Amino acid sequence: MTPRNICRVLSTAFVLLVCTAALFADDDADPAWLRYTALEEKTAQSYELPPQVAILGDSVVLRTAQQELARGVGQMLGRKLQLSTRAPTGSAIVLGTFAELSKLDPRLHSSLVLGGDGYWLKRLRLQGHDSLLIIGVTDRGALYGVFKLLSKIGRRESVVALDDVQQPYAPVRWVNQWDNLDGHIERGYGGASIFFANGQVRADLSRAAEYARLLASIGINGCTVNNVNADPRTLAPSFLPQLKRIADVFRPWGVQLSISVDLSSPKALGDLDTFDPLDARVAEWWRKKVDAIYGLIPDFGGFVVKADSEGRAGPSVYGRTHADAANVIARALKLHGGVVFYRAFVYNHHLDWRDLKADRAKAAYENFHPLDGTFEDNAIVQIKYGPIDFQVREPVSPLFAGLQSTNEAIELQITQEYTGQQLHLCFLAPMWKEVLDFDMHLDVQPSSAPTRVKDIISGRAFHRPVGGFAGVANVGLDATWLGSPMAMANLYGFGRLAWDPDLSAATIIEEWTRLTFANDPVVVRTIDDMQLNSWHIYESYTGPLGAGTLTNIVGNHYDPAPQSSEENGWGQWHRADHDAIGMDRTLATGTGFIGQYPPAVQKIYETLSACPDELLLFFHHVPYTYALHSGKTVIQNVYDSHYQGAAEAQGLISQWQKLRDHVDEKRHKDVLARLEYQAGQAVVWRDVVCRWIFDLSGIPDKKRPLGTCPETADNCNH
Ligand code: GCU
Repeated sequence: MTPRNICRVLSTAFVLLVCTAALFADDDADPAWLRYTALEEKTAQSYELPPQVAILGDSVVLRTAQQELARGVGQMLGRKLQLSTRAPTGSAIVLGTFAELSKLDPRLHSSLVLGGDGYWLKRLRLQGHDSLLIIGVTDRGALYGVFKLLSKIGRRESVVALDDVQQPYAPVRWVNQWDNLDGHIERGYGGASIFFANGQVRADLSRAAEYARLLASIGINGCTVNNVNADPRTLAPSFLPQLKRIADVFRPWGVQLSISVDLSSPKALGDLDTFDPLDARVAEWWRKKVDAIYGLIPDFGGFVVKADSEGRAGPSVYGRTHADAANVIARALKLHGGVVFYRAFVYNHHLDWRDLKADRAKAAYENFHPLDGTFEDNAIVQIKYGPIDFQVREPVSPLFAGLQSTNEAIELQITQEYTGQQLHLCFLAPMWKEVLDFDMHLDVQPSSAPTRVKDIISGRAFHRPVGGFAGVANVGLDATWLGSPMAMANLYGFGRLAWDPDLSAATIIEEWTRLTFANDPVVVRTIDDMQLNSWHIYESYTGPLGAGTLTNIVGNHYDPAPQSSEENGWGQWHRADHDAIGMDRTLATGTGFIGQYPPAVQKIYETLSACPDELLLFFHHVPYTYALHSGKTVIQNVYDSHYQGAAEAQGLISQWQKLRDHVDEKRHKDVLARLEYQAGQAVVWRDVVCRWIFDLSGIPDKKRPLGTCPETADNCNH
């Protein structure tokens, strides 16, 4: 394709994209995976369900659960369930906690489900009547059970001999929103904030309520509503009643409100002349502030803190530690059962790029490992999955293994900041699975047992009281929430993995596709295949072999601009020069970052022979002619993978086109326009990266002439 043609295709595709986006730009939120599409009559009739749904208890969450069940059954099966708030006298679906159900039948004891927000779906005869029990350890568990039952019906699973015990893997399953009070969302690609506008909480919070429903349906139990780069005004006395309004719409869905706070708030709000965490006045300030919040919001979840990072104020101003900062807040929250998430994303963004020993990847471990064991037991260190910043390929952060006496949460990014910004298809669950399943090889008992990241962060490996998952979601007012219908698979996937990280990516996407699109086998096969391959495709044309950031690091984090990572203090370097490429992070000759991993993991990464190809350039600086395990040279692999990735991106279009008669026109058109645009962008990426690496190395592609797109992404971008 000539450059002119490429740009023509891109601009046509983009116009189409904008037009189809306009199709969604109405006020009606897309129901995402909660479509509750009516079943064919015969199939609907085959579902034998009791005619009434009784709740035992009158909490708002139980009432919500009852209504949701009636709604879902009504829409999918065309049946109107009778609603009751009394113990059933006949055949019924019974919703309640073990505490209540065991009063009706002593067999129904909570020891069947171990705790947390778990639940049991069970078909049995209760007091002589056919009953379907949805029993939660908590009311919230019962609500989750309702969503599970509805999901089963939506996916055409039988509910005849129901016996399903579910238990969340970790207590913390939160999403973070990076919404600013002015309504703009940092790294948000789905429109303006559903929470804030013009410095206030929005008058209409119906989308926030709908969001809470979506979150509850996948087991998410907390939502931090404002940017980690927090505005101190969030804690102003006049703002707290506004936050209460958000908590009020979250509550029916069992979603706890939390907020990001600026550590300097005691001073920034003008109350004190200091924010020194060891000053008694500061401790008192936090205590009073937290008391005031709980006075308004009794089920408030807690705070997220970003400090001493990217220009944010932090404890270093007073020579204090991150533990000092986290603990002063944690102590204030502890009295009320709240938690503080203290982010480990702390690094110096003015690193000296000329210093070959400097390495941003080392920062989180260096800052937090020495503090292990000094945090309060309601403080959680929130750690990005990799040591850099949500790149398409990174090794897991060594800090997961570096904190054995501290609570942890893993931070994953649902919004696709570095992975195509929702304009490229990139289903991230396969990547998250690799991260969560990664074995840190720590010496815990029994010593042969793996210490996988998921076991560390959930608190299981080191018997921590609390821990889990935080996903940066950034949904917005766009009808599709994230800006693209297909991207919602990432929100769904996050929730499902936070609930059960043992699920496979294939299982998760199959559930999502059936619920979001259709049970039609052609649809399921095609969309599952596209989604499951999409991360590798994106990686192939943007940055293979763990090379680091080839995207525009100083600008939009989207376009190809490989040289922008170099010669600045941000530290996302790939160190490509005329002869070689990659960061030497070895102990032997490099930055020593590898030394932060447990010894068995060090062994894998330190030597070229053991280091996996996909992370080679993250850990080693090698000549372009270095032969990979596959036998290919690094440079030929870069050329080949970029061509292959761009071709596969093109292939996604033909796959999708086959679904024209299987998917509604609106979504078919929208996704098609995105895929066409993506395929054009993939060619731009391919040609920019291949040209760049050829110009640096002087080594031509053995298989094909150099790509012919001299237009940079500046001319062809979105
Ligand atoms: C990334 C992102 C920022 C964000 C930061 C963070 O660097 O680009 O917008 O503030 O991460 O996680 O704090």
